[in-house]
Amino acid sequence: MDPYKHRPSSTHNAPFWTTNSGAPVWNNNSSLTVGSRGPVFLEDYHLIEKLAQFDRERIPERVVHARGASAKGFFEVTHDVSHLTCADFLRAPGVQTPIIVRFSTVIHERGSPETLRDPRGFAVKFYTREGNFDLVGNNFPVFFIRDGIKFPDMVHALKPNPKSHLQENWRILDFFSHHPESLHMFSFLFDDVGIPSDYRHMDGFGVNTYSLINKDGKAHYVKFHWKPTCGVKCLLDDEAVTVGGSNHSHATKDLYDSIAAGNYPEWKLFIQTIDPDHEDKFDFDPLDVTKIWPEDIVPLQPVGRMVLNKNIDNFFAENEQLAFCPAIVVPGIHYSDDKLLQTRIFSYADTQRHRLGPNYLMLPANAPKCALHNNHHDGFMNFMHRDEEVNYFPSRYDPVRHAESFPLPPRVLTGKREKCVIDKENNFKQPGERYRSFDPARQERFVHRWVQALSDTWVTHEICSIWISYWSQCDKSLGQKLATRLNVRPSM
Ligand code: HEM
Repeated sequence: MDPYKHRPSSTHNAPFWTTNSGAPVWNNNSSLTVGSRGPVFLEDYHLIEKLAQFDRERIPERVVHARGASAKGFFEVTHDVSHLTCADFLRAPGVQTPIIVRFSTVIHERGSPETLRDPRGFAVKFYTREGNFDLVGNNFPVFFIRDGIKFPDMVHALKPNPKSHLQENWRILDFFSHHPESLHMFSFLFDDVGIPSDYRHMDGFGVNTYSLINKDGKAHYVKFHWKPTCGVKCLLDDEAVTVGGSNHSHATKDLYDSIAAGNYPEWKLFIQTIDPDHEDKFDFDPLDVTKIWPEDIVPLQPVGRMVLNKNIDNFFAENEQLAFCPAIVVPGIHYSDDKLLQTRIFSYADTQRHRLGPNYLMLPANAPKCALHNNHHDGFMNFMHRDEEVNYFPSRYDPVRHAESFPLPPRVLTGKREKCVIDKENNFKQPGERYRSFDPARQERFVHRWVQALSDTWVTHEICSIWISYWSQCDKSLGQKLATRLNVRPSM
């Protein structure tokens, strides 16, 4: 027998019950007792192990995006973008890369309904030959805030009240009344797209601005867009109540069943790019995550397609233990100076070290599928087999060398230390344009949702008038409608 061959896996299952250490279990029905009635012997090792393992089955849920569904498949390049990036997995049309995707809701717990008005997470892990690339996005193209220092407060306001554990409008509207940069995101959240009909019928966006860098070192700012080939579909408020009332996991079921039936969900990937030398020519800051880049001035360019053709084998291993992080990029794709992205670069790996342990990137779903090598070792639950004697660098005994260098954004950075807001906030223009693009019935539903939210008895007159004033600055008629229905004068 080769004692090192057996990695724990259900493919090596014994035909009879065993303990975790492999000893046969001859009775999995009755505890070991004194006589037939008890008491129970502490020496019933199998019983104690079984209970102890059960007692520890749960791990901390994600602090946000706790509820999610995942699936596997591939990404295929369909258009040549090698002039923009030296990313190996984007090197030529036809190149395929295995991927795993996790869709999620944001605010509520691991078992919460999938019909709530909430953004949806859209996270894709590409297992490339040059390491993993995680595109950790949402189904809306913009975000609530533009500085990550506000993220914990924002999430606290959106999550249930710490006293009652109820999500409450007054807390949300209070927090965001200090943040008019959130209006654009709210023009999505309170619109019909605020409740996607399921995970297959929704867009995905990288949201933050990243950089693409080509082999000559030329960088472009980039935004990523996923478009479902089956189109976007949403649930209106009363439909959501009906769907959620009969199945609080309807979106997970829809994804699983359609893949099982061979009806594979597919998205096309597009990018928008801006030359950093032209970043000042807009009336908004292209690195501001509360802004879209209008497609008539910055057109979408097709890149590839993603097909989900395989369900996960195990929810815990391939969903609960899955770890995405916007810091995980490959040569040819880099961050931008977008402050929100910069904060995200820290936060994900940090929470995952807490949530999953320091060796979370060794877990099969998270591990790269290419060779890797470094001297980060040991730590809790480290199961990597290592037999090197040199675990320091540099060494004359270890021939390992640095990888080939790859280009970084060439921009020169200057500036003094500051804690301040960006120059071109321009908070009202894009949400106003979006509202005006709705047909009258859609505008009416948008207004109705705001009237409902602002009618919460705990929303003060001051907060209500601030919101009316904000929406008036986006669109005069919208502010007027709200003021009339709520019987409040806007505070300008
Ligand atoms: C500074 C702002 C943000 C911070 C600090 C932050 C932090 C976090 C944290 C701590 C998690 C839990 C990760 C885990 O436990 O594995 C998470 C999950 C997630 N975040 Fe963010 N987030 C921010 C903004 C955003 C934005 C702008 C997006 C969309 C582009 C986004 C998309 C996601 C997604 C999709 C997940 C779930 C990933 C999964 O399926 O496991 N987040 N975020």
